[in-house]
Amino acid sequence: MTDIITMQPRHIDGIEEIERASFKTPWSRKMIEDELKNPLATYFVCENNGKVVAYMGYYRILDEAHITNIAVAEAYRRQGCGEKLFRYVLEDMRSKNVARATLEVNEHNLPAIALYEKNGFVLAGKRPCYYEGKDAALIYWRNIEGELLF
Ligand SMILES: CC(C)(COP(=O)(O)OP(=O)(O)OC[C@H]1O[C@@H](n2cnc3c(N)ncnc32)[C@H](O)[C@@H]1OP(=O)(O)O)[C@@H](O)C(=O)NCCC(=O)NCCS
Repeated sequence: MTDIITMQPRHIDGIEEIERASFKTPWSRKMIEDELKNPLATYFVCENNGKVVAYMGYYRILDEAHITNIAVAEAYRRQGCGEKLFRYVLEDMRSKNVARATLEVNEHNLPAIALYEKNGFVLAGKRPCYYEGKDAALIYWRNIEGELLF
């Protein structure tokens, strides 16, 4: 049984572990700690019996949201956890009158691209050589206003 709650200091260890397992250039512990203090940032985690199994966050800038990250622990992938959290966070944005949301994703990250496109994000641009000077970043946007139909 997973619950979605706002990120708290006790979640840092779990997030750090998932970061390291999920990304070639993971966020450091300090970066995660700083996000907790960032007034622009909102982060949520999925907990299973007190253990962090996923997290996602965004920065609110005026009426726009920039999604900074989403990751699910490997053992919990492909079970609907990422999508449940993703939709929860989009609803959170809508409840705070965010008009549109954007994110960047590595052009080769097919699971994440599929998740974003399934949930209404539309490709709007490409930044070549963005990740480690090699892979392009794909830029996605979606409107958040009104009822969110998934
Ligand atoms: C991307 C990620 C968050 C998806 O989380 P998840 O819990 O496995 O996803 P879900 O089970 O909720 O799947 C939701 C949708 O995502 C897409 N998806 C997820 N995994 C996929 C895969 N391996 N291949 C293709 N599509 C996939 C599908 O559209 C899926 O819908 P469907 O089940 O109807 O096909 C997860 O793979 C992850 O943590 N990856 C590593 C971190 C990362 O790359 N984050 C994105 C940074 S931009």
